[in-house]
Amino acid sequence: MQKGLFVTLEGLDGAGKSTQIKRLVERAQSLGIETVTTREPGGTEAGDAIRAILLDPRFRTMTALTEAFLYAASRAQLVHEIIAPALKCGKLVICDRFLDSSLAYQAAGGGLDFDFVLAINRRAVQGYMPDRTYILDLQPELGQRRRGEAAADRVEQKPLAYHRRVRDGFLRLAEFFPERIRVLDAALTPDELFMRIWEDLTPLLKKMGKYKGCSGV
Ligand code: TYD
Repeated sequence: MQKGLFVTLEGLDGAGKSTQIKRLVERAQSLGIETVTTREPGGTEAGDAIRAILLDPRFRTMTALTEAFLYAASRAQLVHEIIAPALKCGKLVICDRFLDSSLAYQAAGGGLDFDFVLAINRRAVQGYMPDRTYILDLQPELGQRRRGEAAADRVEQKPLAYHRRVRDGFLRLAEFFPERIRVLDAALTPDELFMRIWEDLTPLLKKMGKYKGCSGV
């Protein structure tokens, strides 16, 4: 169905996803690979509105079930508006978080049933599963330290025990999807991390479709 390549980065806040995404885009573009980057929750007008609700510290009593539907709703819109069209045009799509975040945060962290969260997300992504996912594995204590004094959003305000469950959830996901997911140590230097990601990604990029017949996506 798709001709492009779909790559996602996952991990706890503070793991260094945005630094790696920036470098990936620079490298890909320097090789002439058309690249689209996006992030979750958000990435579309409707998705950004959903993001504002999800991260608002006023909604401290929001349940994991409510969260799961909101994240899935934002994801469905993102796939429809951005991800599917770009992949159909043979582009490299790099997404900061995707359905694995819901499996780690809402299922492992929030206690929802894994199969249920997977089922609603399979519907939301409409067949557009990532080709490769890098989990930047980080101890939650280190993530909090990296964030420093910056104001915490609603998710970041959750207790350390929650973030420990999320981290374990990410690691279990790697066992559940061994073909797709690679776990990397987020304590490595950004240079080392990038080297490992690029080494793994290169063969996939070589196999990627070269069709560039669409414009305006
Ligand atoms: P993120 O954009 O990474 O936060 P920031 O802008 O602070 O870097 O993601 C926002 C939060 O949403 C993050 O703490 C993880 C959480 N999240 C979920 O709980 N489930 C999900 O499905 C997604 C995509 C994110």
